[in-house]
Amino acid sequence: MIHPTSPGTTGAGGSLRDRGVRTEPKYIRSYSNAVPAVEAPPARILLPIRELRKSDRASFISSILGGYGPFEDMIGMSRDGSAEFEALFQPGIWYLLRFLRIFGRAPLRAFVVVEADAVVGTTLLLPWPRSGYVLGVGVRPSHRRRGLAGRLVAHAEDVARDGGRTWAVLDVEEENLPAIALYRARNYTTIQRTVWWRSEAPTRIATTAQVQPLSGRAERRQASEWVARQAPSELTSKLPPTANRLTHLESLGQSPGSAREVWEAGPAGNPHGILSAIARGPTKPGILFIPAVGPDATRDEIVSLVQAGVGWLTGRGCAGVLVSVPDYMGPVASVLSDLGFSSQLTTLTMACPLPDGGAGRSPRGAVSGMNP
Ligand SMILES: CC(C)(COP(=O)(O)OP(=O)(O)OC[C@H]1O[C@@H](n2cnc3c(N)ncnc32)[C@H](O)[C@@H]1OP(=O)(O)O)[C@@H](O)C(=O)NCCC(=O)NCCS
Repeated sequence: MIHPTSPGTTGAGGSLRDRGVRTEPKYIRSYSNAVPAVEAPPARILLPIRELRKSDRASFISSILGGYGPFEDMIGMSRDGSAEFEALFQPGIWYLLRFLRIFGRAPLRAFVVVEADAVVGTTLLLPWPRSGYVLGVGVRPSHRRRGLAGRLVAHAEDVARDGGRTWAVLDVEEENLPAIALYRARNYTTIQRTVWWRSEAPTRIATTAQVQPLSGRAERRQASEWVARQAPSELTSKLPPTANRLTHLESLGQSPGSAREVWEAGPAGNPHGILSAIARGPTKPGILFIPAVGPDATRDEIVSLVQAGVGWLTGRGCAGVLVSVPDYMGPVASVLSDLGFSSQLTTLTMACPLPDGGAGRSPRGAVSGMNP
């Protein structure tokens, strides 16, 4: 457990503290790249790292898809193959990203290692205000254990640091031992453990607690300020909630065409709990995120929040419902069990300090020379 202090829950609907359950995650399928017994790792290869080019499209996408694991299966990324990454190469997006990069403001950077014109390793970087979020780390099986992933991650960290960020953050499946070994070797430590729950058709429980949708920008900003006060500071200091993203994990579900809604339970402006939902079309499960519940949340309120999100996703024809819950929220886990959800897998949010990040530099990397 990462955060020993649970917000706990008491209140009009009865204490939930005693109902908190910790179920062991059930994995959809296990990793095929479990730590092998390697006596002497293969020799290092010094292939250069460079920014993704348009001509890399086919081998970049096949390299990325080759690294997909149980998490991508669970959230439905592999169902329509390369759609998420094809979007990156659409002329409008591609040239906008290039243009923004010149000014150090690109919201996404992509780095590759190429051998004989084919991409053999990838990593992506989302330069958020305080942290560089690293994702898409993958190396083709033929090129593993040669130091490529380590160098790719180091490169993404350097770009984040040069843009003024003081942390590098990423998420990894708890079962992915090779990747965790890689990140630990690079000084990353776990700052949050998140359990992902799934149900194809959640059951309904009668509840009287009211929840309100938060549709306006000001309401959502207020919600993000509330979450920032409730969630563990170890997380929010690196990944502050925003009106568009109450938890950084929402970014894994958001894509062009996705829809989002937010609800609060309890008194307006001083809620007891908040939930956000992302619908991603009929071929993928919708995702509910519970970034925080307050100490006064009742079981009824949690049930109502989840059911509001489930009803909204079902109305949009989503293929099942996933719920992302930090592991210290025992009362929420208990409610999800009662509603027929089962835990699927666990992810770790890991962070690494970037020494000298932010020293005299713009957090947005506004000096273009600093973001080559
Ligand atoms: C995880 C992955 C990216 C590692 O790539 P890689 O290029 O082989 O990693 P590196 O050679 O840079 O390894 C650096 C260090 O990480 C650790 N490591 C990497 N793979 C390991 C393994 N299979 N077993 C044990 N340690 C491992 C070691 O400490 C290694 O240093 P060493 O070789 O000096 O012992 C690669 O296995 C992969 O692409 N997996 C599938 C996609 C994936 O899981 N990506 C991570 C998503 S979060």
